[in-house]
Amino acid sequence: MSGFSSHWLSLREPIDHQSRNAGLQHKLSHHFAAQETLALVDLGAGTGSNLRALAPYLPNAQSWRLIDYDRDLLQAARHFIRDWADQILQDNEVLQIQKGRKTIHVQFESHDLAQGIGPLIQSNCELVTAAAFFDLVSAHWIEGLCKDLAQHKLPLFTVLTYDGDEQWTPPHSADQAMLDAFHQHQASDKGFGAAAGPKATELLSSGFKALGYQVEIGSSPWVISSAHQDLIAALATGSAQAVRETGLVDEQSIAEWLAQHRSASQCKIGHQDLFAWLK
Ligand SMILES: C[S@@+](CC[C@H](N)C(=O)[O-])C[C@H]1O[C@@H](n2cnc3c(N)ncnc32)[C@H](O)[C@@H]1O
Repeated sequence: MSGFSSHWLSLREPIDHQSRNAGLQHKLSHHFAAQETLALVDLGAGTGSNLRALAPYLPNAQSWRLIDYDRDLLQAARHFIRDWADQILQDNEVLQIQKGRKTIHVQFESHDLAQGIGPLIQSNCELVTAAAFFDLVSAHWIEGLCKDLAQHKLPLFTVLTYDGDEQWTPPHSADQAMLDAFHQHQASDKGFGAAAGPKATELLSSGFKALGYQVEIGSSPWVISSAHQDLIAALATGSAQAVRETGLVDEQSIAEWLAQHRSASQCKIGHQDLFAWLK
């Protein structure tokens, strides 16, 4: 178990999909427009949300390897992709589906990415992608990833990396103290060494540019209205729990902040998407 529940990933999926930066997604689509096939590796794939969002914009024949160390999430991914498909063509070790004009092969692979991605990109990989993943990894891990991708001249397309910006409506007097503490928690070790948290996109950008890559970044903030009250409540509860673990804010302030923000009328959480490629 990774600590990311299938329920939480399902709650966020509709907002994740509508928040992705459309311009950058278009750029990616254009980049592969001349190809009929594409082989991808999705890092920290969870329940397969990134595949469901991206597949419509990529070549008609796609081959995905969904990588995660949480086998329960990978099992849920198989179910959700089956439900999402128009037709199941094959369902054994490889799941093969039809969705619109896309024929999609999917492999579900359990790996601890803290060990690096080298073996995952040795052969038959044309794009590495990830969603809501990079703020978990360390600066050192990002440096290694950039080198590994450059060695194989591979592009990276990653979306929804937390950028540190948060605005809750209506505001609360403890917002800044809570955010500062949350950022401390973001920097804690999530299995890869001290996490990059909101610095991840900048680290990816500078790492790739130093290796001669073109890099483009687009913002992809969540703007969550009270129509998604379950997501707002889960987000406030998760943030409060993270802050509690730091011991930096007194319990009464946390409880008052949570009581108010559980039913916030709007919440904005900053994210960034990044596409890095070699010309
Ligand atoms: C925030 S979730 C994002 C999931 C999915 N990409 C999405 O957009 O819904 C982060 C994912 O990274 C995975 N993860 C975290 N650490 C990992 C590791 N060391 N190796 C492999 N997967 C990991 C978690 O299991 C989880 O599925």
